[in-house]
Amino acid sequence: MATTSSSTTEIAVAADALVMEMVATPEGRADPYSRYAALRSLAPVHRSAIGFWVLTRYDDCQRLLRDPRAGKDFSGAARALGLSEEQQAEQAAFRDDHSNMLFADPPDHTRLRGLATRAFTPRTVEALRERIVALVDDLIDDFGSGPVEVMDALAFPLPVTVIGEMLGVPAEDRAQFRPLVRASTAVLELAVTPEGLAAATAARATMESYFADLVAERRAHPQADLLTELIEAEDSGDQLSERELISTAILLFAAGFETTTHLVGNALLGLLQHPDQLDRLRHDRGLVRPGVEELLRFDSPVQITARTANDDIDVGGQHMEKGSTVLALLGAANRDPDRFADPDRLDLGRADGGAISFGSGIHYCLGAALARLEVQVVLDRLLDRFGTWELVGGQPGHRDSLTLRGLVDLTVRFTA
Ligand code: HEM
Repeated sequence: MATTSSSTTEIAVAADALVMEMVATPEGRADPYSRYAALRSLAPVHRSAIGFWVLTRYDDCQRLLRDPRAGKDFSGAARALGLSEEQQAEQAAFRDDHSNMLFADPPDHTRLRGLATRAFTPRTVEALRERIVALVDDLIDDFGSGPVEVMDALAFPLPVTVIGEMLGVPAEDRAQFRPLVRASTAVLELAVTPEGLAAATAARATMESYFADLVAERRAHPQADLLTELIEAEDSGDQLSERELISTAILLFAAGFETTTHLVGNALLGLLQHPDQLDRLRHDRGLVRPGVEELLRFDSPVQITARTANDDIDVGGQHMEKGSTVLALLGAANRDPDRFADPDRLDLGRADGGAISFGSGIHYCLGAALARLEVQVVLDRLLDRFGTWELVGGQPGHRDSLTLRGLVDLTVRFTA
């Protein structure tokens, strides 16, 4: 008995050390996959000392995200590491803002998501293909003339232009959002510094004031864009408050480029680091579609999402009390050997798909079809134009964040 309880304690301590490494050290954040695997073997449903439950198995993550009792009310949740009480309250304001769909539960979620859904259906998105091809062609036109820093030259400008045009954010205003969104997403991390929190608060205020002005301008001069559609929805049925309108616009714009930028970077790096798979793709272009699914599985730009248990729930054989915060480690679920054979191998020919990178359940990513299309076009056009792709300057560095995973830079030499 004594042995069992001491080994249980030892397991809990070892599991906690892994969680802390992943969320609170630069090394752990840069290379989480070996830690996910170790945590999954040690304690697949782990109650961490920082107060969160942590899920690393695919089935458990799916079950949680599809459970109607698992919601987005984080008002009572344990907060990020490294902040004072007062700072934790400030951070809470980000997650307790239910004025956009990402942090809302039904019925608000249904109403807020319903208004934007039409713009993101696979059919509406497919109609953007030609425009996306033209944008990619334009961006990669001089890629053959020397090494290119792909994050600046393609991975950011492509998605920010696509979502900017959809929403109606003027071209000259878009670039300023890159640092603002980067700063504001610091609050999605489990470890936040006081400086990071202050920068996030300031960035959010700047974006709110920008979109308040843009909404006023568009109210006076309606255009054929998504922002005008959302305003008209608000005007006609009192379906969106001013606050909800601004918050939704920021969410769509930010989600529309930040994650896709990192998907482009992670996908290209995955191929550059696996030349056999790049060759395979070059010789069988039918693999572009399933290949994008595999690249999403292999190294997703979104590694974690969270839920609050609105009632007592059981997940993976563990009882979680009402009010518990539960983290679904999507990046770990995507490498679960019970779901994906040989999960650490990049294999563009995997037939079964099923990565959980876009989440699951009612919060399944609204932009999934658009993000997929953008990356498919990028791969297709780069393969059409350039016979050789080489990584230049060694291994690129990762951003120091885990919830959102991406590269700082990625320098590549493309040759025709
Ligand atoms: C065009 C690009 C994108 C747009 C416009 C977009 C937009 C959104 C929106 C609005 C939501 C909230 C849905 C809801 O709460 O009902 C969402 C959720 C989500 N998105 Fe995206 N997204 C995009 C790209 C991506 C990419 C590239 C990824 C990562 C591969 C991603 C991963 C997710 C995940 C995991 C969720 C669920 C979050 C949760 O369960 O809390 N998104 N997305």
